[in-house]
Amino acid sequence: MVTPLNKRPRSGPYSGLNARSAKRFLTQAFSEAGIPFAEDDALEIVLAATGFDKIALMLRGTEFLTPEVFETIQSYMTRRLSGEPVDHILGWREFYGRRFKISGDVLSPRADTEPLVRGALSRLEKTARPILLDMGTGSGAIGLTLLAELPEADLLATDISEAALKIAKENAATLHVKDRAEFLLGGWWDAVPENLTFDMILSNPPYITNAAMETLETEVVRYDPDLALRGGPDGLDAYRAIIATAPLRLKCGGWLGLEIGFDQGHELKVLLNSGSWENITIDKDLGGLDRVVWARKAD
Ligand SMILES: C[S@@+](CC[C@H](N)C(=O)[O-])C[C@H]1O[C@@H](n2cnc3c(N)ncnc32)[C@H](O)[C@@H]1O
Repeated sequence: MVTPLNKRPRSGPYSGLNARSAKRFLTQAFSEAGIPFAEDDALEIVLAATGFDKIALMLRGTEFLTPEVFETIQSYMTRRLSGEPVDHILGWREFYGRRFKISGDVLSPRADTEPLVRGALSRLEKTARPILLDMGTGSGAIGLTLLAELPEADLLATDISEAALKIAKENAATLHVKDRAEFLLGGWWDAVPENLTFDMILSNPPYITNAAMETLETEVVRYDPDLALRGGPDGLDAYRAIIATAPLRLKCGGWLGLEIGFDQGHELKVLLNSGSWENITIDKDLGGLDRVVWARKAD
């Protein structure tokens, strides 16, 4: 029988807890509570509380916890068991190998969005000093990652949420790319000055249908902003708005890249079926699902 965490001494040999055993303990507690990815969550919590990386966990994982670390782990565990996602507990989430501050005002960036970044990097390989537009930037995950990867790029990042832009600006400063980023508040094209044209326009807009909003997991509904998720009756409101004006704001040969829902590929191809676009392709994510649509502005 495992001694409950709150009944153990807070540190030292009698607590029986070191980083590794704490991870095991949390994994078991989270599994028993039916939390998916219990071991991943336990690992993230233990690493954050101890300040270890995975290598330090291997090398120093048998050292007894200090009382402070013990208490931090205990409080994080309680919050996770009450349904709060780990990234909200920690206040950050990793995206494309970098740490992004998050809060209840922004969508927590997802691994699902990394294929859009990868596709953008491969298409920008030959573009000198690219000018990028990230629409609905949220935490800044897409646009700021591209700035960090492409030292010559410049970015305009927009969002209708002032609170989201504040987080994106903080992330730009932390990632040391703020000198190359501008942030503008407003609805899709209202935020973008008319005289600007771009080499690439990117967006992961809200794309969940009103009906699907009713079936989302409780944690998503409770912790991700509605504004970041709700895409209208058929989930396509934002795509219609973005695609209608994008050809006017792209340079010739410039690219539009949009994250899409797994079942929206066909609809997006229909929306892009005009003389304005060529090279329309759908990229899949690691799970083999449609995830990104790309279209090139026709000459
Ligand atoms: C799905 S989230 C994506 C956030 C971030 N780009 C990412 O990939 O993690 C969609 C974002 O679009 C913003 N948004 C929603 N409606 C908008 C609108 N009409 N105009 C501009 N941005 C909007 C939301 O505030 C939110 O930050």
